[in-house]
Amino acid sequence: MSKEIVLSGIRSTGNLHLGNYYGALRKFVKIQDDYDCRFFIADLHALTTNPDPNDLHANVKKILAEYLAAGIDPEKATIFIQSDVPEIAEMYLLLNMHVGIGELMRTTSFKDKARKALGLSAPSESDDDEAFEKQIIGSETNKRVNAGLLTYPTLMAVDILIQRATKVPVGKDQLQHLELTRRFARRFNSFYNVDYFQEPYDFDFGGAPVKVPGLDGSGKMGKSEGNCIYLIDEPKALRKKVMRAVTDEGPQAPNSPMSEPVANLFSLLELTSTPEVVQQFRDAYADCSIRYGDLKKQLAEDILAVTNPIRERINDILADEDYLRRVVKQGAEKARESAAKTLADVRQIMGIRKF
Ligand code: ADP
Ligand code: TRP
Repeated sequence: MSKEIVLSGIRSTGNLHLGNYYGALRKFVKIQDDYDCRFFIADLHALTTNPDPNDLHANVKKILAEYLAAGIDPEKATIFIQSDVPEIAEMYLLLNMHVGIGELMRTTSFKDKARKALGLSAPSESDDDEAFEKQIIGSETNKRVNAGLLTYPTLMAVDILIQRATKVPVGKDQLQHLELTRRFARRFNSFYNVDYFQEPYDFDFGGAPVKVPGLDGSGKMGKSEGNCIYLIDEPKALRKKVMRAVTDEGPQAPNSPMSEPVANLFSLLELTSTPEVVQQFRDAYADCSIRYGDLKKQLAEDILAVTNPIRERINDILADEDYLRRVVKQGAEKARESAAKTLADVRQIMGIRKF
């Protein structure tokens, strides 16, 4: 029996951090034997925010090296770059014919990104959608909301549907895009009266989802939050970041509840350290003998024990251009093979036929 197809992509917009590692990469590595896994770098999606061309290329290369260094094996999983599969771009055009501008404009990620592009602040209670739409339509040329941003969900749906993937591991913020993908798949099937696309769902890894907190006291670690520990961080810089992490004035009475910043440091320690070490610091917190400096020092060393070997592999892999080229070529060939087949079917179904 053929294995179920799992697909996930990551936008090439910067280095991968500890949140990406524990929330995604490490899980990908675990499932690569049991599923037909396809992991790709979404460089076309990255273009929606108009990166500098040199940055875009460098970021694609970095993420590729980071995928490999984290343990994704190109002999087991297909690793490819989105723009190496031109079939995706063609099918994006075709699928757009069945996607409504309205439903795209109502997507949360579009509203957030459009606000950013227009230099507006986060949405407030008083925001009304009509005024927002007027702003999009009437925005000045130097602050435009590009059409690629609007059709981002179409492109993501195509990534998934063109590979016939049914399981798509994504973060919470991407679930709405997955919902749209299912809707587009159903719509296509029903419009053409075919049973062609299967509906894809989020990959259930079981257990509670991992949420890696940032070092700034609240919320999750994230690229745009500026609170990240990157896999590529040098030991000195990493130690500095950890030592600067937000804490509080310390427990004022035995067994007092933890503030969020301190609880976050414990969450990071739980991910990277041994249960004994975690318990030792928990006890010290409970009896008020804890010194946050010691906790941070320990945390930095335990994080480094995880990231050091990965960073070394990243650097080795980045230096080996031939290897990177081979991986990308092999991945593109595999990804294109399935993509070309889907595209040929879709063209046929839609009535684009040869004379
Ligand atoms: P970022 O939030 O830094 O932009 P992405 O949204 O590109 O990261 O996330 C890519 C993958 O990494 C997703 O699967 C997401 O769930 C996971 N991820 C990102 N940040 C975290 C985090 N802090 N904790 C757990 N998983 C995370
Ligand atoms: N939009 C996703 C993100 O920002 C990246 C992505 C693009 C993706 N295409 C995909 C994820 C297809 C899963 C499947 O994180």
